[in-house]
Amino acid sequence: MKLWDKGYTTDNLVERFTVGNDRELDLKLAKFDVQGNVAHAKMLQKIGLLSAQELTDILKGLEEIQQTIDDGTFTIEESFEDVHSKIEHELTKKIGEAGKKIHTARSRNDQVLVDLHLYVREEIGLVKGLVKKLFDTLMQLAEQHKEVLIPGYTHMQVAMPSSFGIWFSAYAESLIDDITMLNAAYKISNQNPLGSAAGYGSSFGIDRTMTTELLGFETMKYNVVAAQMSRGKLEKTVAYALASVAGTLSKMSADVCLYMSQNFNFLGFPKELTTGSSIMPHKQNPDVFELMRAKCNKIQNMPTEITTITNNLTSGYHRDLQLLKENLMESIDTLKDNLEVCDFMMKHVQVKENILDNDIYDYLYSVEEVNRMVMAGMTFRDAYKTLGKEILEGNFKPNKELKHTHEGSIGNLCLKEIKAKFEQNY
Ligand code: ARG
Repeated sequence: MKLWDKGYTTDNLVERFTVGNDRELDLKLAKFDVQGNVAHAKMLQKIGLLSAQELTDILKGLEEIQQTIDDGTFTIEESFEDVHSKIEHELTKKIGEAGKKIHTARSRNDQVLVDLHLYVREEIGLVKGLVKKLFDTLMQLAEQHKEVLIPGYTHMQVAMPSSFGIWFSAYAESLIDDITMLNAAYKISNQNPLGSAAGYGSSFGIDRTMTTELLGFETMKYNVVAAQMSRGKLEKTVAYALASVAGTLSKMSADVCLYMSQNFNFLGFPKELTTGSSIMPHKQNPDVFELMRAKCNKIQNMPTEITTITNNLTSGYHRDLQLLKENLMESIDTLKDNLEVCDFMMKHVQVKENILDNDIYDYLYSVEEVNRMVMAGMTFRDAYKTLGKEILEGNFKPNKELKHTHEGSIGNLCLKEIKAKFEQNY
């Protein structure tokens, strides 16, 4: 059944090509489509386009449909193009004529916009919850291992002393910026597009303030063309926020893969959390973090892919926009999965001790040595030059004692301040 049925049948090939995987993806939108229908019907009744009885019937029908969504029996059969068509058909089948009135003063264009805005709003909340869990785990690890020193690198060359306290809390604090990005995407999703209809509004006296309130939106997209233009822009904004979280996870995964290598050997995981090789019997590989790195790098490509699809589209609806659903939903699901797996893995991380005892890290304290000379009265530049020359000529004897006195790397990690910042930004 097509909502735009005018008495002829669409060619099968065209049907398959245009619907694509929309039926499957739209299942995620079903409950939001019901919510949009409920708000729209109440508004239609208020402005006199539905009778009280019709509204009661519609609400009852929608409630029954919602039950099938909740119990997992809701399906979108081949005879329907999308979730919007299926729900309108189902409603009309259940309650008769009143069902045929539900589409008054709206279009699938604003319906899909409403669904996506509501879906994104809920999903961002879930992503934020998972980010919080990972943040808490990382902060706990930072506290627990704050005294364990590791080398810091610049240019992948041994640079200055760092610590697991710094390393874990670095990624935790970085997640706060990602939360800020998610909050921005949430704010943008929290605007009601319903009432923009096909993208140019309706001549019925619709009450958009009422649907805005009923759907719990903070505000509405007043301008109908702006509302329609939010298709694509919403997805891109969310993709940027997801990419921000993914960037943090992907960098952390890259560190973990490096630190797990035998040449570094800074950390490990129980063997059950690693993977083996079909030929080399000794292997315990970091496949989880390699896949996390790759999956999160793919998510970081999403804003670019969405930009490419939407860049040359003029204002107003285009079917191209349908393709963005796939990008959006896949990135959200993948990111949630990665956040969960990352938290699980980190809860089992095994941190190695006494890493800096290895002689290859002897120069790690050269800056500390310069600072000591400065404290003894030399200018920084003279101290730097003197020590640099000694190192070059092979005359410098690293002071192993400094390893145990270096304050900067294990000193105040500001863990309390980072926690407070998280709470403020959450
Ligand atoms: N499946 C469509 C989409 O995601 C629904 C809107 C269809 N609108 C239209 N004018 N053909 O964009």
